[in-house]
Amino acid sequence: MYKIGVLPGDGTGPEVIREALKVLQVASEVENFNYELVHYDFGGDRYLKTGEILPESAFDEFRKLDAILFGAIGHPDVKPGILEKGVLLRIRFELDQYINLRPVKLYPGVYTPIKGKGPNEIDFVVVRENTEGLYVGAGGFLKKGTPDEVAVQESINTRKGVERCIRYAFNYTKERNKENKLTLCGKTNVLTYAFDLWERAFYEVAREYPGITTNYAHVDAICMWFIKNPEWFDVIVTDNMFGDIITDLGAMIQGGMGIAAGGNINPEGVSMFEPIGGSAPKYTGMNIINPLAAISAAQLMLEHLGEQKAGKRIEQAVMKVTAEKIKSLAAGQMGYSTSEIGDMVADLVREG
Ligand code: IPM
Ligand code: MN
Repeated sequence: MYKIGVLPGDGTGPEVIREALKVLQVASEVENFNYELVHYDFGGDRYLKTGEILPESAFDEFRKLDAILFGAIGHPDVKPGILEKGVLLRIRFELDQYINLRPVKLYPGVYTPIKGKGPNEIDFVVVRENTEGLYVGAGGFLKKGTPDEVAVQESINTRKGVERCIRYAFNYTKERNKENKLTLCGKTNVLTYAFDLWERAFYEVAREYPGITTNYAHVDAICMWFIKNPEWFDVIVTDNMFGDIITDLGAMIQGGMGIAAGGNINPEGVSMFEPIGGSAPKYTGMNIINPLAAISAAQLMLEHLGEQKAGKRIEQAVMKVTAEKIKSLAAGQMGYSTSEIGDMVADLVREG
């Protein structure tokens, strides 16, 4: 019996999570597993009503869950940063979800802006460090608001934090068993402290994995190669900030925010899965947003929980929908409504 926390969040989050739950329900019936849902209404509306973002007590509950399915955060009436830091980043940090796992896989029938590349060329995974780097909020202002103002934002890289991320990436590459190739993405030519540590940890851990081919690429070069030669990549490991940036580029080449999903993983604790797009306030309540990314997040969650067969079923169903059913992944241009896509995937999961 899995205990799954559901945090639909803001904007179109609830609409897409509803479809993911529909698919989860069917997957559980056909693959015979049980789960219980615990719903949470954290997000912009609750914050505006009560002033509460995420109480400490929520974490006592979260820690008892097997996984969390997250929708989206971001509210037009809340200043940017409050909910992102107060909900999404806070959960990542407090639950020590030190891996952000982002598959970049182009499904059949999905439009990629890269000419001449298809599903065979675009299929790699980014392992992004998720609890350190520039995201920890280290730094501060000096003489704020004056002409002499100084702003410092420091990137924190601990040997322990870097090494556990790298080790996860090696294990993941080995288990994925596709090309057994792991690329470190950094900036060793300029960030000579942070990525010196990353590089040393990378090649030290590499010795434990003789079956994995390793290589290194600067983050700017990675951006070129995602476009020019995406087929070069199998698994990429990188820090929090670079990972944030390159996975948006990755999402675009796999068809955009309508399809991209990711996992915030604590391999020893509670992990959280999410469509990586935002809350899309302008589409809220219209039943036109694409739920496939949220459905794919549920797939990643099931695979993480060990329900590989259910995960595979969902992925096959999503691939059938992209290949044969929908015209576009873009909101309002799919040829179907949000709930119709959810029904379609659910039916395909049932039929197998
Ligand atoms: C992501 C998002 C978040 C991040 C924001 C919303 C804080 O862009 O999950 O990639 O920067 O990590
Ligand atoms: Mn991002």
